[in-house]
Amino acid sequence: MQAVILVGGEGTRLRPLTSNQPKPVITLVDRPFLVYMLEWLRGHGVDDVILSCGFEPTKVREALGDGSRLGIKLQYVVEPEPRGTAGALRYAADELGGLDETFLMLNGDVLTDVDVTAQLRQHAETGASATLGLVPVDDPSAYGLVLCDPTSAVSGFLEKPAPSQLRGIDRYYISAGIYVLEPSVLDMIPSGQEVSIERTIWPALVGNGLHGSQADGAYWMDIGTPERYLQGTFDILEGNVRTAVAERMGAGYTALADGVRVDGRVVPPAVVGAGSSIGAGAHIGSLVVLGEGVTVGEGARVERSVVLDGVRVGRGAVLQDCIVAAGVEIADGAVVRGGAVLGEGVRVGAGNILSAGIKVFPGTDLPAGAIKF
Ligand code: GDD
Ligand code: MG
Repeated sequence: MQAVILVGGEGTRLRPLTSNQPKPVITLVDRPFLVYMLEWLRGHGVDDVILSCGFEPTKVREALGDGSRLGIKLQYVVEPEPRGTAGALRYAADELGGLDETFLMLNGDVLTDVDVTAQLRQHAETGASATLGLVPVDDPSAYGLVLCDPTSAVSGFLEKPAPSQLRGIDRYYISAGIYVLEPSVLDMIPSGQEVSIERTIWPALVGNGLHGSQADGAYWMDIGTPERYLQGTFDILEGNVRTAVAERMGAGYTALADGVRVDGRVVPPAVVGAGSSIGAGAHIGSLVVLGEGVTVGEGARVERSVVLDGVRVGRGAVLQDCIVAAGVEIADGAVVRGGAVLGEGVRVGAGNILSAGIKVFPGTDLPAGAIKF
């Protein structure tokens, strides 16, 4: 089965993590983000994926190639300019000479284990033109709110609803960005234009073959901000979302790669990449990812944090609730906490205390004692 994944967005809200790497391939625990989506889709019978890209996806290609490693055929389609969510689909279909059978379309920024097989089954049973995967949320304001009648037919679609539109609704189901579509939907999208699927196509399909498939109990998260990136990481480590990482960690909730040297202590759940070393008296975990080749000095403490490849953490340094991109150097005794995000190659001198969600852009050099909050 074919699937079109939209990956046209720039991921600005995830900067500085996306300053050097596009959002689809930023590392999440131990693999590029999009690999989670591809592994999940493969488990539901998808073997041919079209990535709809907004700009030349060199780094995405470098990370994912032709998909053969994942057992999927991967094709890249690059728009001449952003076409919007429906325009991008139409452009990809035109470039490929059409899509003939029932296919999937996905937003490229969700970490999920929604049962797509059940959604496909429902789609076939109802004879729908389009079936939207739905997940329950407390606050639908940042999403597409979907109202269904008891037969699962969609009776209303409200993209980014205003508070006044929520009156009288007791349970909010939103579009999860997981769609089963018939090729006939393509004919509704004009070629060569910017068109939003949420604002133009779904409203036109209400009462006309648009259905919703409720995925209660599934895991679903848009990973587009540092807070949600960290939460997604923790959920993978805890096994709250079904992924290959959970299988890798096993019952001990710990994955130490080959050649890891541990003189300190690792508290699960934790993942430590190849060639990393943890000094005497250092404390790693719980809820920690160390990438490959990370050095943690004696007596340092790392908790609820992501520390990517090649980072050097000095003796006695403290890292809590933070994201540290590849190649960062943190001096002895420095403190990084409170949602701080350090971009690639940042250098944090001794005596710095970084917190309160501070974002430090790639390559920045913070001299000793420069920041203390
Ligand atoms: N190729 C391409 N071209 N991709 C695009 C374009 C475009 O012009 N515009 C957006 N995308 C991609 C983004 O990269 C993302 O993967 C997906 O389309 C959705 O865009 P977002 O900008 O992330 O939308 P959103 O999160 O505000 O809302 C959408 O997702 C919600 C679920 O997370 C909507 O589909 C909502 O209805 C939905 O609830
Ligand atoms: Mg999104």
